[in-house]
Amino acid sequence: MSIFTNLSKLGLGTWALGGDIWWGKQEDRISNETMAAAVSSGINFFDTAPVYGRGRSERLIGDFLRKRKLRDKMILATKAGLSWEGAKIYHDLSEKKILKEIDESRRRLQTDYFDIYQVHWPDPNTPIPETARTFQKLKDKGIIKAIGLSNFNFLQLKEFSKFSPVDSLQSEYSLFNRELEKDIIPYCQKNNIKILTYSPLYSGLLTGKFFLEPREKVPEDRIRQTKKEEFEEPRFTINRQALENLNKIAEGYKKTLAQLMLNWNFSQPGISLAIAGARTPEQARENSLSLGWEISQADMEKINNISKIREAKIKEFKKR
Ligand SMILES: NC(=O)c1ccc[n+]([C@@H]2O[C@H](COP(=O)([O-])OP(=O)(O)OC[C@H]3O[C@@H](n4cnc5c(N)ncnc54)[C@H](OP(=O)(O)O)[C@@H]3O)[C@@H](O)[C@H]2O)c1
Repeated sequence: MSIFTNLSKLGLGTWALGGDIWWGKQEDRISNETMAAAVSSGINFFDTAPVYGRGRSERLIGDFLRKRKLRDKMILATKAGLSWEGAKIYHDLSEKKILKEIDESRRRLQTDYFDIYQVHWPDPNTPIPETARTFQKLKDKGIIKAIGLSNFNFLQLKEFSKFSPVDSLQSEYSLFNRELEKDIIPYCQKNNIKILTYSPLYSGLLTGKFFLEPREKVPEDRIRQTKKEEFEEPRFTINRQALENLNKIAEGYKKTLAQLMLNWNFSQPGISLAIAGARTPEQARENSLSLGWEISQADMEKINNISKIREAKIKEFKKR
C-alpha cells in the first residue's frame, strides 16, 4: 500500500520546534506538547530536516516517537542537501554527502527508514543525475519509501524525473503565494506526484494575528522577516482588507482564519497535504480543526476573488 493512502490532509511542520536561526527561543517541553497535541488531533505526518535547529528538530522527534512507540504509526519525512558548519548553511547533494546525512538523520530520528526522503533545495554544484541516482539506490534498498523533492522549479523537476521517479514535491503554497498553480500543479497532477505544501499560513501571516489586531512589530528572529514587505504600506492595508474579508467567511463556519486558510489549502486540486508549522500545543490543536469539514463552492469562489483582488492591487502599486 502506498504511504500516501492514509495521509492526514494536514501535517505538522517542525522547523520552528528546532528554534535557532529564524525562530528564536523554543522550549523542548513545549515542543513535545505540540507534537502530542498534533498526534492526538489526528495528524499522522511530521516534516523535518537535519538543518532545522541544526539537528535539534530531528532529535526531538526521534525521542518523542520512541517514548510513545509511535514510529510505525507516523509518516515521517526528512530531507537532505542542506548542511551547516557553525552558523554557515551550505548546499551539498553529492552521493557521498547524502549517504552520510541519511545515516545521521536515521540516528537522530531513531529509525531505520524514512517514509519520504526529500531533496531540500537544488544544489547548483551537484549534477541532478548524481542526486537522483543516489535517491533511487536508497529506495531500492528500502531505506526510503518515497522520493521527494522540495523547492524545485518546473524545469528542475522535469530534469530530475528523467533519472528517477519522483513521488512527491514539497513547495511553498498559500492563498498569498499561488505561483505553483502556473505549471507545477498541472504537471504533478498529470504525473501522479503528490504535492505537500509548506508555509500554508504564509509563515503565520494568514492567521491574521498581525493584521486584524493592532499592528505588532515582527521580531527580528522570525522567518516572517523574509516577508516583511507585507507589513509595509500600501501592502499592509491591502493585506488587512483581504484578511478582514476572509475572516468574515471563516466566521460563517465558526472557524478561525487559520482554519479556513488551511482547509482552503489542502482542498485545492492536486494538493495532498498542507504542512502547517506550530510552536505551541494550542496552535497545533487550533490548526487541526481545519480538518473534517468543507468550504462550499460559493465560498471557494469568494476566497478566490479576494485573492485575485489583492494580487491586482499589489500589481497596480508595483507598476507605479
Ligand atoms: N522545504 C522547505 O524549504 C520548507 C520551507 C519552509 C517551511 N517548510 C516546512 O513547512 C512547515 C511550515 O512552514 P512555516 O512554519 O514556514 O509556515 P506556516 O505553517 O505558514 O506558519 C507557521 C507559524 O505560524 C504561527 N502559527 C501557526 N499556527 C498558528 C495559529 N493557529 N495561530 C497563530 N499563529 C500560528 C507559528 O509561528 P509564531 O508562533 O512564531 O507566530 C508557526 O510556527 C515548516 O515547519 C517546515 O516543516 C519547508
